[in-house]
Amino acid sequence: MSVLLVAGTRTGVGRTTTVAALAACAIAAGGASPPSVVAVKPVQTGAAPGEAADLAVVQRLAPQVDTREFARFPDALAPHHAAWVGRAPALPFADTVRHIDDLDAAYDLVLVEGVGGLLTPFDPDRRWTLLDLAADLHCPVLLVVDVGVDAVADTALAVARLEDEQIPLAGVLVGRWPAEPDLAARCAVGDLQGLAPDRRLAGALPDGLSSGGRFAARARAALGPAWGGRFDSRAFVAAQVP
Ligand SMILES: Nc1ncnc2c1ncn2[C@@H]1O[C@H](COP(=O)(O)OP(=O)(O)O)[C@@H](O)[C@H]1O
Ligand SMILES: [Mg+2]
Repeated sequence: MSVLLVAGTRTGVGRTTTVAALAACAIAAGGASPPSVVAVKPVQTGAAPGEAADLAVVQRLAPQVDTREFARFPDALAPHHAAWVGRAPALPFADTVRHIDDLDAAYDLVLVEGVGGLLTPFDPDRRWTLLDLAADLHCPVLLVVDVGVDAVADTALAVARLEDEQIPLAGVLVGRWPAEPDLAARCAVGDLQGLAPDRRLAGALPDGLSSGGRFAARARAALGPAWGGRFDSRAFVAAQVP
């Protein structure tokens, strides 16, 4: 019924944790009739067959969620390099679109985690990217970002690229907010909020969210009302102004 692409400005920004938080929050907000949710990792790189990877993390944090992985390559590289180096067939674009469309028909919510950045190729020949997937599926993109010194520049580029392609930006979300943010982080969040739809961050996941208990309750505190949570972007940013 609805597909969301969860993209990162780069790898390691907290997309996997974000997918789990969105799923847990949507399910908790659904009360007695929770939505059916499936988390998709189109290509998992850097993991051997059978090894626990991103979707195992999602399942640990949000056990009610179903998961699908379409391809896996052992080298910890971008998918097009990992397929090439592993002499394995890359994931075809048309198959990926069809698989996601089928899941969309079967589930209330399909959360697709990107690999690498927005423009990371999936295939050594066609070099299709998450941007192509969003354009073909006509689905919005949630950008998960960090709060380092380059975060605002990276996010502005990604937002501009989505605008160029007329792909709706579902939100800008801080994937890992430190318990003791440094000056760069506190300066960044105001600009990040300014780049977000309605000039509000979709959320800020506190560092440590993926460990410890009560994941769904803590995820609700970290995600905004549009995502079933209670996070107040304006108050959050106002509290950080140096
Ligand atoms: N909010 C968070 N709190 C604690 N650890 C986190 C948080 N977000 C991400 N991490 C950790 O940071 C690493 C990268 O996060 P991950 O979600 O896998 O990033 P991505 O999927 O964007 O590559 C992982 O080891 C993950 O457990
Ligand atoms: Mg991940």
